[in-house]
Amino acid sequence: MKVTVIGTGYVGLVSGACLADVGNDVLCLDVDPAKVKILEDGGIPIHEPGLLEIVRRNVEAGRLSFTTDIDKAAKWGVIQFIAVGTPPDEDGSADLKYVLAAARNIGKHMDGYRVIVDKSTVPVGTADKVRAAVAEELANRGSAAIEFSVVSNPEFLKEGAAIEDFMRPDRIVVGAEDAQAIDLMRQLYAPFQRNHDRLVFMDVRSAELTKYAANAMLATRISFMNELANLAETLGADIELVRQGIGSDPRIGWHFLYAGCGYGGSCFPKDVKALIRTGSEHGHELKLLGAVEAANEVQKHVLVDKIVRRFGEDLTGRHFALWGLAFKPNTDDMRDAPSRVIIHELFKRGATVAAYDPVAMQEAERIFGDESRLSYAGRPKSALDNADALVIVTEWKEFRSPDFEAIKSRLKQPVIFDGRNMYDPALIRGEGIEYFGIGRV
Ligand code: NAI
Repeated sequence: MKVTVIGTGYVGLVSGACLADVGNDVLCLDVDPAKVKILEDGGIPIHEPGLLEIVRRNVEAGRLSFTTDIDKAAKWGVIQFIAVGTPPDEDGSADLKYVLAAARNIGKHMDGYRVIVDKSTVPVGTADKVRAAVAEELANRGSAAIEFSVVSNPEFLKEGAAIEDFMRPDRIVVGAEDAQAIDLMRQLYAPFQRNHDRLVFMDVRSAELTKYAANAMLATRISFMNELANLAETLGADIELVRQGIGSDPRIGWHFLYAGCGYGGSCFPKDVKALIRTGSEHGHELKLLGAVEAANEVQKHVLVDKIVRRFGEDLTGRHFALWGLAFKPNTDDMRDAPSRVIIHELFKRGATVAAYDPVAMQEAERIFGDESRLSYAGRPKSALDNADALVIVTEWKEFRSPDFEAIKSRLKQPVIFDGRNMYDPALIRGEGIEYFGIGRV
C-alpha cells in the first residue's frame, strides 16, 4: 500500500520505517529541511535503538523515502498519517496548529480518496476539526467532490523501545466510522497482528480519549508512588520493599511503580495537562490529575532539596557530577526532563555541573547553548572529578554497576544522590559512600 507519513519525529519516523519494513511504499514528509537532509544522507535525526538499520534497509529497498514536497506527499499515499507534534499551548491545552496545518496541506493537494489518520496525540474532537479543515481546502479549490475519511489511530510506542512496540503492539486502537476506512486500516495493520487480533476498533472520540487515558493512568501511578516514597522516608520505611509488596498483587502489577525524581518526556506532562484542560473546558475538574501533576512538579525538586539539606542553601563554589540528561534511558529526548529542572535549580544556588549522558549530550548542548556553568564529560568517571557529589537522574544501564572506588577517589567526598534508586543502600553505604535515594531508609 502507498502510505504518507507527515512528521518525521519519534512517532512519524518509527511508524514510516516499520510500515515500509512490512512491504508498504512509504513517503515521509517533514517541514524541517534539516531533518529531511539528515535522512536523505543516510542518517536519522533522533536516537532510537534499531531505527537506523530499519531506515537504511528500507531506503535501500526503495520502499522508504523522504521529502519536503507537500504536493508530492498528499498525492502519494491513500493513507495519510498525521504524526506531527502537539505541544502544550500556554493554557495547557494541546496546540493543534501543526496538526491542522498538515490537514490543510492534504486538503490543498490530494487528488483522490484519502484516509487521513490522526496518529498524533490529540484532544477529543480533533478529528472533526481535521475533517472541517480538509473539507474547507477542498471546497476552496472547487474539489468538494473528492472523498476522504478521518480516522483516529493513537500511538502507544515508547521511546527507547519504539521499534519493538510498533512491530509487536499490545493493541492497535483505531477510531473509524466508515467501512472503507476500517477496511484499509485492517489491511494496513494485518502484518502486525501476530496470531491474535490486536486491532481494537471504536468510535473516533473514544479512540482519541483512550490515548490520554493511558498516559494519565501511568502518570498517576508514578505520582502515587512518589508521594508514598516521600512519606516512607519520613516514616522510616523503604519504598522499594513496599513496591515489591504491592506489585506482586496481580490487580496492581509491576509496571510504573518506581519512585524517582519525577516523570518527564514529551508525553506524560503535556498529555496530563491537556486532559485536565479538556476537562475544565467541558465543566469537569479532573481533581485527581491536578494532584498528579502538582505532585510531579514537587518531585522534580526532591533531589535538589536533599542536596540543600546536605550542603546548605548556598551552593556557590560547589560542583556536581550529573549522570543522565535524557528523561529516561535509551533516548536522547530531553523534553520536560527532570535533569533540566535539577540543573537549573543547582545553577540558581551558585553551583556548576559536569554532566554525562550516553546519547543526550548533543541535545543538552542545543538546549543549554554556551552555558559556562555546564560542562560535559566524555565518560561517567570523568564527570566525577572534583565534584562535591554525584547526582543520578536517568537510570541508564551503564550506571547499574559503577566503579565505586573511582567514585570515592574522584569525588571530593563520596556522596551520591540517586534519583532512580539504582543501588542497594546498605551495599553502597558498606562501600563507605554517603547515599541518598528516593523513599529509602
Ligand atoms: P516530534 O516533535 O519528534 O516530531 C514532529 C515532527 O513533525 C517534527 O519533525 C516537525 O518538523 C514535523 N512537522 C511539524 N509540522 C509539520 C507539517 N505541517 N508537515 C510536516 N511535518 C511537520 O514529535 P513526536 O515525539 O514524534 O510526537 C508526535 C506526536 O505523537 C505528538 O502528538 C505526541 O504526543 C505523540 N506521541 C509521541 C510519542 C513519543 O514517545 N514521542 C509516543 C506516542 C505518541
